[in-house]
Amino acid sequence: MQTTAVRPETSDGWALSPQTKAFLAAGGFGHFIDGEMVPSASGETFGILDPATGREFARCAAAGREDVDRAVRSARRAFDDGRWRNLEPLEKERRLRKLGELVGQNRDLLMDLDVIDGGLVRAYSEFIVKFGQDAIDYYSGWPTKLHGSVPAGPPDVVVQEVREPVGVVGVITPWNGPSAAPAGIVPALACGNCVVLKPAEQTPLAALVVARLCIEAGIPPGVVNVVQGLGEVAGAGIVEHPLVDAIGFTGSGDTGRRIVAAAAPTLKRVSMELGGKSPHIVFDDADLEQAAATVAGAVWGHSGQVCTAGSRVLVQRGIHDELVAAVVARSRDIRLGSGFSPDTQMGPLVSQEQLNRVCRYVDIGKREGAQVALGGARHGEAGYFHQPTIFTGVNNTMTIAREEIFGPVMAVIPFDTEEEAIAIANDTEFGLAAGVWTRDLGRAHRLTQAIRAGTVWVNTYQRVYPSIPYGGVKQSGFGRNLGAASLEHYTQTKTVWLKVR
Ligand code: NAI
Ligand code: MG
Repeated sequence: MQTTAVRPETSDGWALSPQTKAFLAAGGFGHFIDGEMVPSASGETFGILDPATGREFARCAAAGREDVDRAVRSARRAFDDGRWRNLEPLEKERRLRKLGELVGQNRDLLMDLDVIDGGLVRAYSEFIVKFGQDAIDYYSGWPTKLHGSVPAGPPDVVVQEVREPVGVVGVITPWNGPSAAPAGIVPALACGNCVVLKPAEQTPLAALVVARLCIEAGIPPGVVNVVQGLGEVAGAGIVEHPLVDAIGFTGSGDTGRRIVAAAAPTLKRVSMELGGKSPHIVFDDADLEQAAATVAGAVWGHSGQVCTAGSRVLVQRGIHDELVAAVVARSRDIRLGSGFSPDTQMGPLVSQEQLNRVCRYVDIGKREGAQVALGGARHGEAGYFHQPTIFTGVNNTMTIAREEIFGPVMAVIPFDTEEEAIAIANDTEFGLAAGVWTRDLGRAHRLTQAIRAGTVWVNTYQRVYPSIPYGGVKQSGFGRNLGAASLEHYTQTKTVWLKVR
């Protein structure tokens, strides 16, 4: 293997779990194909960096087209010989349930890895691992519940509409919740598909643990494969591969558009969970204490690197100053640091690139005339930290109100009337999510009807649950993750006509 061993002092000397130490010491991180961790054919690797220090602590194999082809063919063989799809449904459920248990048993390892390569703080990594485990628990109940139908037809025939898996599914994931990988793959597995998973190059480790646990759970080799490497090579290779039937993508709009185009020649079905610029609207009749706490959490959570971040805060003018003061008060003393420190409330951004992006947008915000009510600069010298930053006096035409920053930057926009709030909320190319704070039931319903978004939360924000679908409209994508909705993407129906008279 071309990969180097890991220095044990990773992440500020914080005590890693024994499982994590063993995992990191073993090294040799690469692809997971046919049930085994393997290097690239070319021997090429890329560095894995700790975002809290900026230090490279390990290397991982980087796929070329040959490696992608190997992984896809492994999944294809596994699908075609029926080693997974033809297992009886109850047995699929047992093995998926076992996977859920194993993820639970490896919780500390997964949390550590998300902190080390993704810069998550402890509380957020806990949430992410649980999110993945919850998705497994939910989808593990589906194999026995999938069914087709018998449509009405002419009397001389019996017609069956049979529900079948689509085949080989490519799942391409971002870096903001690496251990949520199971949530990306179990909907496909529950339907009997085989998977090639491409984790983000910033956070390659958790997927390897998950793939190994699949084997341990009795999911046969080849059913879940992982290829590592750059999006333009490994990701694009999966999208273009003729033996891949469907793509599930989560990430940026630019990459999403590229994937849709690259999937066209082979006519793959694709689902797109993309970014947002979600409006978080606070009316003057809201519970301001709760609203302020939630508004803050909705942008500071994982340093704003969350697709549903409530990055546009729309505040009714009468309570504007009070709400801003409350949010600033809650945000002023946030402790930044490594996720391994128990004191840390906000971690680093994932990469130098992401830090540069956030700094660039903050400069643009200042230049375009927004006022800095908090923060406004990078934090410290080492690692990729940025201060929680609040801009007030933002106009919805400003760049910081229009583009997804994906960092700890809040844009506060005042409004007067309900109509104006709706107009501003919808004046965006995105439509992933929205939040509304009001005690007026009629107004709550008017807003949920008027806002064009995949999810609208009222008097709460960023709640997720495995049985409840989420996804975007407009430039935030199409297709739904979680719930029964995502089974549609990973199955198709076959119509069978049988002449009986
Ligand atoms: P990205 O969308 O380029 O990366 C996401 C995944 O797509 C990664 O696994 C990457 O390797 C893969 N990928 C990249 N190019 C590809 C291609 N041509 N074909 C197939 N797969 C490809 O996101 P990136 O560049 O890491 O971040 C840039 C910005 O995107 C962020 O600043 C943020 O605004 C946004 N973003 C939004 C996310 C969300 O959940 N809404 C998640 C990640 C990024
Ligand atoms: Mg990219």
